[in-house]
Amino acid sequence: MSDQHHQPQKTFTITNDETGESWVLPVVEGTVGPPAVDVRKFYAETGHFTFDPSFTSTGSCKSRITFIDGDEGILMYRGYDIKELAEKSTFLEVSYLLLYGDLPNKAEMDDFHHTITYHTMVHEQIINFFRGFRRDAHPMAVMCGVVGALSAFYHDSLDIWDPRQREISAHRLLSKMPTLAAMSYKYGIGQPFIYPRNDLGYAENFLHMCFSVPAEDYKCSPTIARAMDRIFILHADHEQNASTSTVRLAGSSQANPFACIAAGIASLWGPSHGGANQAVLEMLSEIGSKDRIPEFLERAKDKDDSFRLMGFGHRVYKNYDPRAEVLRESCHEVLEELGVSDDPMLELAMELERIALEDPYFVERKLYPNVDFYSGIILKAIGFPPNMFTVLFALARTIGWISQWKEMIEEPAHRIGRPRQVYTGPTARPYVDMGKR
Ligand code: SDX
Repeated sequence: MSDQHHQPQKTFTITNDETGESWVLPVVEGTVGPPAVDVRKFYAETGHFTFDPSFTSTGSCKSRITFIDGDEGILMYRGYDIKELAEKSTFLEVSYLLLYGDLPNKAEMDDFHHTITYHTMVHEQIINFFRGFRRDAHPMAVMCGVVGALSAFYHDSLDIWDPRQREISAHRLLSKMPTLAAMSYKYGIGQPFIYPRNDLGYAENFLHMCFSVPAEDYKCSPTIARAMDRIFILHADHEQNASTSTVRLAGSSQANPFACIAAGIASLWGPSHGGANQAVLEMLSEIGSKDRIPEFLERAKDKDDSFRLMGFGHRVYKNYDPRAEVLRESCHEVLEELGVSDDPMLELAMELERIALEDPYFVERKLYPNVDFYSGIILKAIGFPPNMFTVLFALARTIGWISQWKEMIEEPAHRIGRPRQVYTGPTARPYVDMGKR
């Protein structure tokens, strides 16, 4: 390669102050975002581990799928800004983009749409899995079970080394998550399951399976269907968050894709992660009225109080979560359409946001509303109970999870993930017989 193109390898030198030894570590650079120090040989060369318990400073992989600039409040899927995609694209088109890397042309989109539409039914025996749950089971518990069980039905797409089987599994998961999510909802409310229809769009079909009954079809307004589709777009992927990292780590052991997605669902369920949208509604209900906001803000600041302002803060965003901005606008559209524009829950949320963003505690810590702050208000207005909110998050995030899983499997150098530790327990000691303890 001629000199003008040959960029010298950037490096980091680290010195052990105790021994004076130094090591030169290569720097890894992406197309955008912070560079990274490559520490893959750090332990072999220095006899030291690096230490970063919640990975605040650790890149776990190279990825071409999603990029976040937390300081600027930027989110891009394959280089396309989330606000532009939310405004101009559809969830199925965004799913194609995440999975294959580029926006589809018309023929590609028509083919993809047909494939996904014609895989929305699930094996009839899966109904038996639902019957094993209590009716009051949390739908996320049901989803953990039935999604993992898909690997018991689709033996023809479990060979993770076969590109076509990887693609078929991705299509099956994208197609069937709405059907299983709707079934988890119907089972909880004691209504019969509603089969998918091939003449409806992705979001509309999901709403049909949730809200139609054998006696009467659900009449889905275009505004509601569009809002649902947009919510799916906004939740589709988000770099190496906790649930995506769970999917990647599960996949690194060569577990089948259905088991990996079930692991992601389990991780997403936590109230610090995808469970926050349900927790926001429960928090707003607990606050109840604007005059109690100061009391709860004080609790959120109290280190001795486990209460946190749900829907606020983010590991990466230290600016407004761009998804929250889009959802706040969608809130008004949906509530207007449903004639509940004076929803006290929305008014309370907006007042809480206004007060919190003036409070030094939140300003100093750059705690802004995140994706979960407004989503629950829209979902409740559409007709979903709070215990379904995280299921909808999992439905949407499945395409992100499976795209990240596929990228990892297709990475030639990928190996099983195996973090180390700093051991702080007892050093070696002999067994003591019961009589001498
Ligand atoms: C999602 O990672 C992703 O990308 C996730 C996600 C995705 O799309 O996959 O974006 C989806 O999970 C969004 C986040 C949803 N969770 C919530 O809304 C729950 C409430 N938020 C917090 O639990 C918290 O903000 C986290 C979990 C989101 C982030 O936690 P961090 O990175 O560990 O933040 P931190 O604890 O380092 O916060 C720094 C300070 C601390 O105070 P000090 O020790 O500096 O005094 O801010 C405080 C925290 O106590 N703080 C909060 C707070 N969030 C942080 N204080 C009150 N209320 C909060 N919500």
